[in-house]
Amino acid sequence: PSTLHELAAAQGKYFGSATDNPELPDAAYAATLGSEFGQITPGNSMKWDTVEPAQGRFDFTKGDVVTDFARRHGQTVRGHTLVWHSQLPGWVSALPSAQVQAAMKNHITAEATHYRGAVAAWDVVNEPFNEDGTFRTSPFSTAMGSDYIATALRAAHAADPAAKLYLNDYNIEGLGAKSDAMYALASKLIDEGVPLDGVGMQAHLAVQYGFPYAMRENMRRFADLGLDVAVTELDVRMQLPTDATKTAAQSSYYRQVVEACLAVARCVGVTVWDYTDKYSWVPSTFPGEGAANLYDGNLAPKPAYDAVRTALGGK
Ligand code: G3I
Repeated sequence: PSTLHELAAAQGKYFGSATDNPELPDAAYAATLGSEFGQITPGNSMKWDTVEPAQGRFDFTKGDVVTDFARRHGQTVRGHTLVWHSQLPGWVSALPSAQVQAAMKNHITAEATHYRGAVAAWDVVNEPFNEDGTFRTSPFSTAMGSDYIATALRAAHAADPAAKLYLNDYNIEGLGAKSDAMYALASKLIDEGVPLDGVGMQAHLAVQYGFPYAMRENMRRFADLGLDVAVTELDVRMQLPTDATKTAAQSSYYRQVVEACLAVARCVGVTVWDYTDKYSWVPSTFPGEGAANLYDGNLAPKPAYDAVRTALGGK
């Protein structure tokens, strides 16, 4: 095996990357995206504001570019995301509460139906929790309470019974209040017979915050519920400038995430939140931070890339 995905596939997992439409005309970027990774996630082009900018007016053009890329390169696609409080068009937030459920169901039905057969797994609900494990306030929770989550999963299952349906969040990689909340929610949904296949752990890590506490054990408790686990948005940022200590810590974090996934049978794969520093979301969101990805800004593999290869059993 010579690529990250081939190494992962030899162990029954996938290795994937996020991407975004403006990046795809970059030929060198697209060549590595299409060869090194077996799964891709559109970073923006399946979000509500892109897909349904006005009520009932659907535009799948950008997402279709990503699913076409995947088809041409033999990759699976993670759909991201059907219901999220962010990148939500203003018309949703402006709806009277009594109309939110119907709008949400219509959105899910239209999008999951359109991508039937092209999207293998959906982040049906993204980031439902606050850091303390309480439910985040959104137009959906305001209108329906936390029941919006079960309603969303049922609508997605009806539209695409074959897709794997996930709840996805950040800072749930380790044991803690937020992952406890996700665990309690997942347990309840399973008890109620709600269609839920997995939990996505985003894993936007930072060298200066330390590695998540007991990631492997945390993955295992979700697996023990009968759920799949996926690492969906892995990156490891640091305060710039880089130095040898931070670079070594970054490599170690990437390696530990891959090792955790390999150690848990129900962990289906790892997706990095884009593979190169050239197209990272980090610098614009956390000024002064960056260098979070496996490849540098010139698309050259970094030590973290070698760490991942080694963890996957490569040479
Ligand atoms: O599309 C507009 C464009 O028209 C405008 O000219 C430009 C000027 O700023 O902005 C463009 O929108 C940007 C969009 O990405 C598309 O590039 C937004 O400003 C920018 O905020 C948005 O950032 C995305 C972010 O989600 C929004 O929350 C990142 O690319 C994307 O990587 C990031 O992904 C999220 C996951 O969905 C959920 N988990 C966390 C992760 C990182 O934040």
